[in-house]
Amino acid sequence: MRKMLLTTMTVSLVGLWACAPATTDAPPPPVVSAPAIDGPADSAPAQKLTLGFAQVGAESDWRKANTESIKAEAEKRGHELKFSDAQQKQENQIKAIRSFIAQGVDVIAFAPVVETGWDAVLAEAKAANIPVILSDRTINTQDETLYTAFVGSDFREEGRRAGKWLAEKTNGEASILELQGTPGSAPANERKAGFAEAIADFPNMKIVKSQTGEFTRAMGKEVMEAFLKTPEGQGATALYAHNDDMAIGAIQAIEAAGKKPGQDIVIVSVDGVKDAFLAIQEGKLNCTVECNPLLGPPIFDLAEKLVAGEQVPKITYSEEGVFDESNYADVINDRKY
Ligand code: AHR
Repeated sequence: MRKMLLTTMTVSLVGLWACAPATTDAPPPPVVSAPAIDGPADSAPAQKLTLGFAQVGAESDWRKANTESIKAEAEKRGHELKFSDAQQKQENQIKAIRSFIAQGVDVIAFAPVVETGWDAVLAEAKAANIPVILSDRTINTQDETLYTAFVGSDFREEGRRAGKWLAEKTNGEASILELQGTPGSAPANERKAGFAEAIADFPNMKIVKSQTGEFTRAMGKEVMEAFLKTPEGQGATALYAHNDDMAIGAIQAIEAAGKKPGQDIVIVSVDGVKDAFLAIQEGKLNCTVECNPLLGPPIFDLAEKLVAGEQVPKITYSEEGVFDESNYADVINDRKY
């Protein structure tokens, strides 16, 4: 980590949470506060709280690190965590949220598996006066009062960074395969849109095949195998994967097809997990756009403030970097997940 941005400014709604080297020149969002990346709690909490967390599942290394961060932070601060794993199903998350309401938790946090379909259950939480924190993924709603705060990444910006990096790397010429995340999820929708925006100025950059790999290694491999059997797949020069796990699965498929990942096919993905850094070191992955999973500290910072009756920013973004062969060595040894 080259620098830590610790500036505090009085801007209203948007916060900026953690820092890593940013190699993009995209303007950063306005800043409210920026504690350190694994931001320790200042002191023992004034009040012990109970937080219900409805997690998406365990589909990727990113998700596992995210779960671990939330569990570890609850334990460190002495709070009670009621944790539910929805196994990728929205109905399971809705059930978990209803159960948290029935149990009268102080705060509910959840990572919405998809963007739509939350209004009814969130209205129930609001009626019960339980504040809701959206963790990592946003929702689509006409009523922004149904949740209190969002903490996580700017997924559209991640997509833009991936597209911009690929345009520079390929001099604006690429036949691109795209592995999308879970259909209907905020990271799949936004990373796709941001990437499309970034390559729109390059007429010789085209997405020739695009399909979901569900954010998993196994599906990334399976879909890439299928891509490589098609004429578009055989002629492809680049791969954009919405997460590292799918890229790593795809690397296996590319090697099995007798091609060299990272050379015959330039690969850019999103997350910045340890295995992606190792793949960059081996020359098989070319770039990973960071998405910070360590959301335990900011979630409990928000929850403590809410329970204490304090105001919190509506949006808190993590600050994240872009890593390729030029700078991966700066962080590979420190990356724990
Ligand atoms: O919502 C964040 C995304 O969900 C991560 O990029 C991906 O790996 C995951 O499972």
